[in-house]
Amino acid sequence: MRGDSLLKRRASSTLAIPEADDVPRHVAIIMDGNGRWATARHLPRAAGHSKGVDRVEEIVEACVVRGITHLTLFAFSSENWRRPADEVSLLMRLFMGTLERQVARLHSNGIRLSIVGDLDGFEPRLRELIDAAHRKTQSNQRLTLTIAANYGGRADILSAFRRLVAVDPTVVSDPSRITEEALAPYLAMHDAPEPDLFIRTGGEQRISNFLLWQLAYTELYFTDVHWPSFDAGELDRAIASYRTRERRFGRTSAQVDP
Ligand code: IPE
Ligand code: IPE
Ligand code: MG
Repeated sequence: MRGDSLLKRRASSTLAIPEADDVPRHVAIIMDGNGRWATARHLPRAAGHSKGVDRVEEIVEACVVRGITHLTLFAFSSENWRRPADEVSLLMRLFMGTLERQVARLHSNGIRLSIVGDLDGFEPRLRELIDAAHRKTQSNQRLTLTIAANYGGRADILSAFRRLVAVDPTVVSDPSRITEEALAPYLAMHDAPEPDLFIRTGGEQRISNFLLWQLAYTELYFTDVHWPSFDAGELDRAIASYRTRERRFGRTSAQVDP
């Protein structure tokens, strides 16, 4: 009895342990290396960002074809405001232009678009486009494309905690009720399974404040390929690497593969 409850408590920080599968259900990508891709070609950084937007289209389609149901892309971190003003404003314009041009096509392909992050940080026109995209595509089921914009993993956890306390202030006097299950619905990605595969392009091997909570048991894949060069073949390499992994979620190898 006591052992049982101990087991339950220690089971995993992952709420839903996914079935082992050859194709990841949820892929989360830090699209990095746009600037270096451009610099290596003697182009302005802007050229790298705009080529990067083209890659998003290709990778979304590749995910649909491969039966991936959730794709989450880190487009702009809460720390990216520290960049030179002209680069920040270029990134905002690209984001806005992409929403204006692509939402209808995404919708006709059955893709649900979800933008997560501190959306209050964006100018009103961009917020309107985001709202419209959410409304238009909310019932689509083929693939959920989540764009993390003005997103930070720590801020996400803090805001979830604040919202939990705001909704139910009595948890403060009974902290044992502040469980993973209680907090989870207030996190930005609450309606998606936790990522199975994380990819970071551009050669850096760090998380850069992306999905800190959700990546607890995600398989990590790092590639030197810059995002503007990351094509469907590179995605397949990442998936091939994922297929070689043994996901144990704290268990022994013999337990997961008897
Ligand atoms: C990723 O590429 C895009 C954003 C962070 C918006 P970078 O712009 O970070 O490219 P590098 O890392 O400087 O090459
Ligand atoms: C992470 O890339 C954020 C995005 C890709 C949107 P950065 O280029 O901002 O990360 P650091 O600064 O190298 O950690
Ligand atoms: Mg970078």
